[in-house]
Order: sequence, then structure tokens, then C-alpha cells
Amino acid sequence: MKATLESGYDVGCVPRLTLANGAQIPVVGMGTFGSDKYSPDTVASAVVEAATLGYRHFDCASVYGNEVQVGSSLKQVMLNGVKREELWITSKVWNDMHGAGNVIVSCKKSLKDLGLDYLDLYLVHWPFPNFHPKGCSGDYHNPDAKPYLHDAYMKTWAQMEVLFKEGLIRNLGTSNMTIPKMKLLLRACTIKPVVNEMEIHPHFQQPELVDFMVANKIQPVGFSPIGSPSRPERDRTPEDTCDTTDPVILKIASRLSVHPAVVCLMWAVQRGEIVIPFAVKREQLFSNLKAGMRAELTTDEMKAISGIDKKCRLIKGQVFLWRKDQTWEDLWDLDGVIKQ
Ligand SMILES: NC(=O)c1ccc[n+]([C@@H]2O[C@H](COP(=O)([O-])OP(=O)(O)OC[C@H]3O[C@@H](n4cnc5c(N)ncnc54)[C@H](OP(=O)(O)O)[C@@H]3O)[C@@H](O)[C@H]2O)c1
Repeated sequence: MKATLESGYDVGCVPRLTLANGAQIPVVGMGTFGSDKYSPDTVASAVVEAATLGYRHFDCASVYGNEVQVGSSLKQVMLNGVKREELWITSKVWNDMHGAGNVIVSCKKSLKDLGLDYLDLYLVHWPFPNFHPKGCSGDYHNPDAKPYLHDAYMKTWAQMEVLFKEGLIRNLGTSNMTIPKMKLLLRACTIKPVVNEMEIHPHFQQPELVDFMVANKIQPVGFSPIGSPSRPERDRTPEDTCDTTDPVILKIASRLSVHPAVVCLMWAVQRGEIVIPFAVKREQLFSNLKAGMRAELTTDEMKAISGIDKKCRLIKGQVFLWRKDQTWEDLWDLDGVIKQ
């Protein structure tokens, strides 16, 4: 494979995984959440840059507040010669649009903003209808927040199925689900999700959840795959650990002469995940895409990384809690029971 920072990669080199329904998704996508740090225009410029490097998969969401700008970039990318069918564009319905009819409204808005006729994948961003204002602090509490209510979630899912039947979305997926919630969805849905987007990085491996998804033919897509070093303040706590300074990761990075971030991505892809790292810098975009093409971690290195799981969830979601006396663990059904 001949590729340089100037030329980028031959698109044919970027591997794709086949989902349960036969759809083919590139193993590395570009995340587009600017983490309240990078402006919509900066993220949008990075989308054009990423496409010139060989990216064809972009992970978007209405709540990222930049779909209009990302849409202009996608238009540019297609004017530059990339065909729509080569692209894989994901978007997500935000928590404030779960109600009757709103998922359809939200999807149509994302399509308009992104300048597309259809989405390759549409996700329910969180299983809760609870939301927070942009830039809020970590202890924000929404007095209207509710626990997970299965009937309400299925009303949301029914609208996802309508969008699929109307051809506006080609694949359905979930995000931030747990095993008990996914079991309920699988029992009640007509059209199954083919993807679950979930936090995965070496210090937060979620092996049971990954195994459950794979056993049910639901492809895990790992978000914050580098350990989200630029995440917003509200998502930081003193207990958080850092993947890219872990001695095991550093040792492998030194052997391969790559940034520790690249080791995190290689580990995930070698494990069979899709990764959606965020980057706006050309060098980072380039090495992140390359990480999806090089299965160079040895069996011993893969085993060593399995051993550094610190069960350290970074995106805890505490701003979605429905009672003030709760802790973020209540969102994640740790004992197998959905908290009410
Ligand atoms: N479904 C969900 O609920 C959900 C939640 C969170 C995220 N996501 C998605 O997942 C995407 C990625 O997650 P994330 O942004 O939280 O975290 P991430 O991808 O783990 O980390 C991104 C940061 O890592 C650094 N980085 C990237 N590539 C690098 C490289 N090659 N070498 C060194 N540093 C590198 C950059 O920091 P600097 O910019 O400081 O250099 C970048 O801002 C998001 O953009 C979004 O699309 C989804």
C-alpha cells in the first residue's frame, strides 16, 4: 500500500466489515463531535481533509450542532468526485426528540442539514429522553428527566422502523445500550438494530456487552476509542484514567514507532470493532485511518491490552439522571436490572 500524508490512501485499501444484513461499513470512521472545543467550521474542514485521505465513513449527530457545516463539506467531497454510494454517513436522534413523530422530524432535519437523501445508519443516541443544555456543567440536573421507560423507547423505535421502510435510513442502530435494555428491544422490535455504538477503549473494554452484541449479530462501534483526551469538562472526574499513558500501550507504541492513540485503535480493529476516532489534524487523521489497515499487534500484545481494563467509563451520562440522589451507575444497569 503506497500512501503519504500528501496523497492519502487508495480508498480500496480501507477495509469494510459486513453487517448482519449485508451492508458494508468502513472499519474506521471520523467522529464529528467537536467536544465543545472545535468549532463547526473546524470539524467541517476536517471532513474534507479526511475524505482526501481516504475516509468514507463519518459519524454525525444532530446534537453535535454542526450538521449544516458537515453537510457543506460532504457536498464538496461529492463535487470532488466521491460518489454518494461510497460514503457511509451515520446520524443520531437526540434525546429531546423521542416523542411521537419527533424521530421522523429529527431525521428529516438531519438529512436536510447534511444535504442527503438517505442516511446509511441512524441511531437512537441514548435510551433516555433526557437532555442537557449545551455546555452545561457536570452536576446539571434536568427536573423533567425520566428513567428508561420501555414503552416510550419502543414508540421511538417504531418511528425508526418507519424511516427504514420509507428508505430514509438504510440501517438501524442503538447507542449507549445495556444488555437488559437490548434484550427488551430485541424481543419487541420488528426490525433489529445492526449496530450498537458504545464507549470502548483499552481502559474500558466492556467485554460482556461486546460479546452479547456479537452473539446477537449487532456490530459494536466503539466511540471515544482513544479515551477521549479532549472531552468536555462535564465528562471529567478525578478518578478517570488515561489510556494513552498506560505503560502497556506506551511499550507497544514504542515498538511500532506510532502514537499511543494509534495502538488503541489497532487493538480495537483487531478485536473486530469499528472505530470512529475524532481528529481535525491531518497527521492524526492519516495515522488513525492507517490503524485500521495494519493488524500488527501480536497475540501477546493483544493479551497484554486485555489485562489493562480498568472499567473506567469516561462518558458517564450523569447529566441524564432523573433523581437528584442518584449516581451515574444507575444509568448502566450494572446488576442486570433496569433502574426505575
Ligand atoms: N454515541 C455516543 O454517545 C458518543 C459519545 C461520544 C463520542 N461519540 C463519537 O465518537 C467520536 C470520537 O470520540 P471522542 O471525540 O470522545 O474521543 P476520541 O476519538 O477517543 O479522542 C479524540 C481526541 O484524541 C486525540 N487524537 C486523535 N487522533 C490522535 C492521534 N492519531 N494521535 C494523538 N492524538 C489523537 C485528539 O485530541 P486533540 O484534538 O487534543 O489533539 C482528538 O480530539 C466522537 O467525535 C463522536 O462522533 C459518540
